Amino acid sequence: MSKKGNFYIATPIYYVNDRPHLGHAYTTVSADVVARFHRMLGENVLFLTGTDEHGSKVEKKAEEVGKTPKELCDENSGHFQMLFDRLSISNDDFIRTTEDSHKESVKIFMSELYEKDSFYEDRYEGLYCTGCERFITEKELVEGKCPDHKTYPEKITEKNYFFKLKEYLPKVKELIARGELQVEPESRRKEVLGLLDNEVLDDFSVSRESVKWGIPLPFDDSQVIYVWVEALQFYISALGYGRDNEKFEQFWPVDVHVIGKDIIKFHAIYWPAMLLAAGLPLPKKIYAHGYFTINGDKMSKTIGNVIDTNDLIDSFGTDATRYLLLSQFPFGQDGDIKADKFIEQYNADLANGISNLLHRTLSMTEKYFNGITPTMAEEEHLSLLPGGVEALWNNYKNDLNELKVEKALSHVTMLVKVADGYIEQTKPWELAKEDQEKLANVMYTLLEFNRHISFMLYPFMPDTAEKMQTALGVQYEEHTSFDELIKWGTLERGTKIKKDEPLFMRREN
Ligand code: MSP
Repeated sequence: MSKKGNFYIATPIYYVNDRPHLGHAYTTVSADVVARFHRMLGENVLFLTGTDEHGSKVEKKAEEVGKTPKELCDENSGHFQMLFDRLSISNDDFIRTTEDSHKESVKIFMSELYEKDSFYEDRYEGLYCTGCERFITEKELVEGKCPDHKTYPEKITEKNYFFKLKEYLPKVKELIARGELQVEPESRRKEVLGLLDNEVLDDFSVSRESVKWGIPLPFDDSQVIYVWVEALQFYISALGYGRDNEKFEQFWPVDVHVIGKDIIKFHAIYWPAMLLAAGLPLPKKIYAHGYFTINGDKMSKTIGNVIDTNDLIDSFGTDATRYLLLSQFPFGQDGDIKADKFIEQYNADLANGISNLLHRTLSMTEKYFNGITPTMAEEEHLSLLPGGVEALWNNYKNDLNELKVEKALSHVTMLVKVADGYIEQTKPWELAKEDQEKLANVMYTLLEFNRHISFMLYPFMPDTAEKMQTALGVQYEEHTSFDELIKWGTLERGTKIKKDEPLFMRREN
């Protein structure tokens, strides 16, 4: 495939105080879809994820379970990597913040800010929530506790270095308002601009005196760097910032940070301010997705509705898990994961939908044309698909460019329905008795529908897409351009199909 330009996408790096949960899988699978889509467009994609391993959260958990912080990090980072492998995540690298290369870049970046006079020293007294890994204000507390973690914050008094955030806020605001720094979806942009308008943000501390598990400040080793300040720098340390600038020059600024809405302030305000202070370009886009509930309730151990992603993969397989996760509600909004409907949905969309369509198409091709893709005499007029498949591809492409992940997926489901309707309308079994030429047109059209479905599915269900292409005898050539691939009628006539087991078998409740 011809390379069209660079595209850098990253997920947040995940805390390793615990094993991964469904929320982490949701962010990572969505980002993977976007990364795969851009590879399909022929772009030179860099897709990064990893684990955020320092800070008091990890330090405390390690103590609790009688391990060293590093042992806990190795163990849980390993769980993230295993899960991402099982989910077919196509990340180009997996960064751990305990790696020396990250530490080295962070020290260079922090020294740079120090030299540019972006820090000052002060004593700090405040309430700290370890769950959030941040200082929390009295106003935010509910009955004295952090509303997210339901725990009492700790009172902390210590010497800290502070970042002159306020100096950079007007510029950050201007860039977001002008759309030069895109914050999406719109609701999040408003939220961020609201924070900037109300001037509620103060300079923040970039170091901690009482925490030991972290990277020491290069200019004062009595302090370790505040975990958030260090973690954000993963986005550039992973590109070799300050060490080997070639990759950095090639890929920075990042095209999109895909994050959850909980960490928008860090990404859309603190991170751009730090970059401005260092004189570096800002991210092009920050996209924050929503939070989900499970069957209407917040996912929690107390309610007992926690879904383990590994269990989902065990029972549905990788691609179906990806599908079930992404098809639930619009990306970017909060929504509900209807886990009690998973089997029903799996049967309807995957077994009876995608899988059955391919199987029927291949069976009829075997029966009527000895398994050879027939020659089409004339192009079918597809009344069920106004604008043809081209219009559908345009919508699909626009949606994925705008990270409307669930909407893009809905076009595939729609195309399956159109193809099913087409079978009912044209009745190939009747044509087989009376009109061979028309039958050839219909069968070619159906095979071609399946080919388009397979390519549209590729970012979402890569393994299924590949199986479909093998069955259709389609070779996904390296040099095939995206525009070529989405054209109607490029399925080669005379190709031998290979019917195999159905892609998805129906499941009982
Ligand atoms: N380590 C920081 C990020 C540093 S990035 C420089 C962090 N880690 S985290 O492990 O708490 O998870 C981060 C991301 O996981 C969230 O932003 C979100 O993308 C995802 N999710 C965690 N819980 C989630 C839900 N319940 N629902 C949806 N996404 C969730 O924050």
